[in-house]
Amino acid sequence: MTGPITTERHDDVLVIISNNPPVNALGAAVRQGLEAGIKEGLADDSIKAMVIRCEGRTFFAGADITEFGKPFVEPGLPAVVDQIEASTKPVIAAIHGTALGGGCEVTLGCHYRIAVPSAKIGTPEVKLGLLPGAGGTQRIPRIAGVPLALEMTAKGDPISAKKALEAGLIDKIAGEDSLIEDAIAFAREKAGTTDLPRASKKTAQADPEAVAAFKKENARKFRGFDAPAANIACVEKASDGSSFENGIAFERQEFMKLMMGTQSAAQRHIFFAERQAAKIDGIASDIALRPINKVGVIGAGTMGGGISMNFLSAGIPVTIVEMAQEALDRGAGVIRKNYEASAAKGRLKPEQVEAAMGALTPTLDFSALADCDLIIEAVYENMDVKKEIFAKLDSICKPGAILASNTSYLDVDEIATATQRPQDVVGMHFFSPANVMKLLEVVRGAKTADDVLATVMALSKKIKKVAVVAGVCDGFIGNRMLKPRQVEAMKLLMEGATPEQIDKVHVAFGMPMGPFQMSDLAGVDIGWHRDPNRIESIRDALAAEGRWGQKTQKGFYDYDEKRNPTPSPRVAEIIENFRSKSNLQKREISDEEIIEKTLYTMVNEGALILEEKMAQRASDIDVVWIYGYGWPVYRGGPMFWADTEGLPKIVAGLEKHGFKVAELLKSKAESGGKFNR
Ligand code: 3HC
Repeated sequence: MTGPITTERHDDVLVIISNNPPVNALGAAVRQGLEAGIKEGLADDSIKAMVIRCEGRTFFAGADITEFGKPFVEPGLPAVVDQIEASTKPVIAAIHGTALGGGCEVTLGCHYRIAVPSAKIGTPEVKLGLLPGAGGTQRIPRIAGVPLALEMTAKGDPISAKKALEAGLIDKIAGEDSLIEDAIAFAREKAGTTDLPRASKKTAQADPEAVAAFKKENARKFRGFDAPAANIACVEKASDGSSFENGIAFERQEFMKLMMGTQSAAQRHIFFAERQAAKIDGIASDIALRPINKVGVIGAGTMGGGISMNFLSAGIPVTIVEMAQEALDRGAGVIRKNYEASAAKGRLKPEQVEAAMGALTPTLDFSALADCDLIIEAVYENMDVKKEIFAKLDSICKPGAILASNTSYLDVDEIATATQRPQDVVGMHFFSPANVMKLLEVVRGAKTADDVLATVMALSKKIKKVAVVAGVCDGFIGNRMLKPRQVEAMKLLMEGATPEQIDKVHVAFGMPMGPFQMSDLAGVDIGWHRDPNRIESIRDALAAEGRWGQKTQKGFYDYDEKRNPTPSPRVAEIIENFRSKSNLQKREISDEEIIEKTLYTMVNEGALILEEKMAQRASDIDVVWIYGYGWPVYRGGPMFWADTEGLPKIVAGLEKHGFKVAELLKSKAESGGKFNR
């Protein structure tokens, strides 16, 4: 046999081996090879059992997503899984790494499954806006019951080998280093079995209570998404007494509906966009990286503490520096409290908390940063202060150390001028809370060295961030695009919209919160000049009255002790005062106008960012908004969304309100182009 699948005889056991790097995706050649392998085993009388295993870092990680949307090539995965299951000789799946999606479904077609202890098994299709379409929704409930099937399919998180064993999804745990031998021995044990266990022949017990509880528990998480409900419906179908064939027909119908929809296209776009974002145009992927074994963080406030936790959790020691003992103690205390809270929820073991805290060195002594490989400054946004710190770092830090600023909008090139080593200076813009939010904007200064950029991008993966390269401009990618949204939202207030109406439109769109809810959460006083007599905007008026948002129980909304918001009559009054002072007439504002003014303008800014080459590609902008600001992943990010809306519509909407349309946006709209291919 040629191609990614080969076979190997071990006396009476035929081992079917896939070697399709990097993740053994089940592309056409793999499916054809599997089919041929099973046929070979069946045709040879001396073969008594078969094992399916994979070379490389993982068992099959699923269908080949790059094939989706392209002409179909036989055989389909459902047919291959059926052929495996129909085999009259035992077929054993030997699992290592991750058996995901179609990979998991291949194992379910096998009669027996053996896995190494570190293996993970799951059906993450829902995260691509899909459902397991090769029998997974019908076989999992038949083997493991409805509650686990709901968890696995509608939430998509993989389970451990241990849990899979308990649930019957695997039959045996192999030695971590002896999978092949153990699988062959297991196959030999099963050779000659005539009543082979076949998942399709089992029945699943209906569990309407579990379904109702599951839906209720996850209603918030699933809001706006099509795929979870389709997964749930398929699992219900598997347990409602329908035949397996009917269940499969239903699964196929639902799978195709999702596959043809915009949501799955958006989610698949983000899957690839996230991986693409890690690639730096013009820098070889094998460039030598600088070793990062110790990190320094300046500032033990919310940001500095959160940033430190990323490294501590990844096992990288951190030296954290503050100006005053009290601030240092408070910062270290918050880090401990956060870790202990995770431990209390069972997410960390007590010894892991101690290991992380043991790797933290709090100090007031700046010179303790001398042996750090990367130093991240996380003090407040003031250019003079930052330059002073960078000049100090220049005199203390060892040659080759990377000097990073966590600034969210300041000029990284200007910060770099405070040093004699601008090539070692880079921006690392974390998002708050920095230990939770996945996005990292890596700001490439005019003089940032290639290996510095590549090192920081590689490091971001180690600390489980999704990093995007941004150029030096005010607010980089995310905050720069946030600005027109905020400006337009404020103007709409003046013209007659309410904070509630604008926020409602954004939440209905799929955002976790609207612009005013976000202001109240972040703090209305952020960036305020702090002169209560200088009232130049609605924000100034709110801040001057102590309406600083959730932290003072009043901002654009009034809040109760549990932080439940209600519309504020006082805010309505303030807006009304401003409106009459500006001689503006209150008018009806439509939801459509809110979308056009607050979201189309973001797309326009995104186009300018691309024109100016401040982002490498449109999909990077989408990644920023998904992982940094909670843009609904089923809309694929602002640039992908603009493509699905149709760029001529976006241009027309912008022109209707007199906005200057970015050239790139205009030209793409005119030529029928798109931001994302
Ligand atoms: N199809 C095609 N390419 C895939 C792929 C897949 N299913 N899974 C990963 N890749 C590619 C990635 O795009 C990446 O390509 P690149 O190097 O060119 O950027 C490369 O493989 C390596 O992937 P990662 O960087 O993600 O590698 P990690 O080691 O970090 O993670 C993984 C490995 C956990 C397997 C992760 O890649 C993953 O989660 N993959 C997707 C799993 C999935 O969603 N499976 C379901 C597919 S849909 C399906 O099966 C439908 C069926 O029910 C009919």
